[in-house]
Amino acid sequence: MTTTRAHSFNAAAAQYAANRPSYPPLLLETLEELAGRPLRNAQVADVGAGTGIATSLLHARGAKVTAVEPGDGMAAEFRRNNPGIPLVRGDGNHLPLATASADFITYAQAWHWTDPAKAGPEARRVLREGGALALWWNMSDNSQEWAAAQDARLRDFFQHDSFRPASGEGKQRGGHPWTDVPGLDFTEREIPHTRKVPLVTHLANLGSHSAFLVLGEERTREFMKREHEVLSERFPDGTVEECYVVHVRLALN
Ligand SMILES: C[S@@+](CC[C@H](N)C(=O)[O-])C[C@H]1O[C@@H](n2cnc3c(N)ncnc32)[C@H](O)[C@@H]1O
Repeated sequence: MTTTRAHSFNAAAAQYAANRPSYPPLLLETLEELAGRPLRNAQVADVGAGTGIATSLLHARGAKVTAVEPGDGMAAEFRRNNPGIPLVRGDGNHLPLATASADFITYAQAWHWTDPAKAGPEARRVLREGGALALWWNMSDNSQEWAAAQDARLRDFFQHDSFRPASGEGKQRGGHPWTDVPGLDFTEREIPHTRKVPLVTHLANLGSHSAFLVLGEERTREFMKREHEVLSERFPDGTVEECYVVHVRLALN
């Protein structure tokens, strides 16, 4: 099931690219602060790069970034959006990268799709000594009453099955996504950010999550129709303010 979900993004890559939120500038500053070095001219491998949302930010900051992506559909969308950034096909469990070649390895909402028993040692192999492994997730900020209510509707709809794998699938330890890597000592930060989007974009963003992608169109439409009704009452001008907290974990090799 995890494998099916991990590959579900490929059929919806354009929807993903058009509707998912990006990450705030403070995230890049935080990576530099925790790593103790700038991203400019750093060799960065962005693994599980998807359509390139994080990769393009790292590139714009001056990093020499290589994207690593296993999925056909996501890789094709990446190449359409980022023709100037190198992408290699592969996954985090077997990185197609040379030993001791990276200053940073980044996983933006992708670490939970790996087998950490393999991806951890692989990251340590590819990182230079002192290089940084950085993992982050954009999580909905449920201190917002409407977001908590939506989360409850999602949990109810999916029968308490995990909607957001980064926070579910038994991969939690001490309330955090499962990110323990033997030999690495992670520092954590939380970075809030918001964006205002049309309601249709918000719903398309929701629909680009793997739980809906494996559910099928009919049941997805059923949920979205009800959600459209509920949110139209909450946001009568048709603009939704999505609130996120980026949960970042970074460790030096
Ligand atoms: C939620 S998307 C994140 C994409 C992008 N990093 C972003 O921030 O938008 C997860 C990505 O992880 C990829 N993926 C799935 N299994 C993986 C694995 N074992 N190692 C690395 N990436 C994987 C998927 O193909 C997908 O592109």
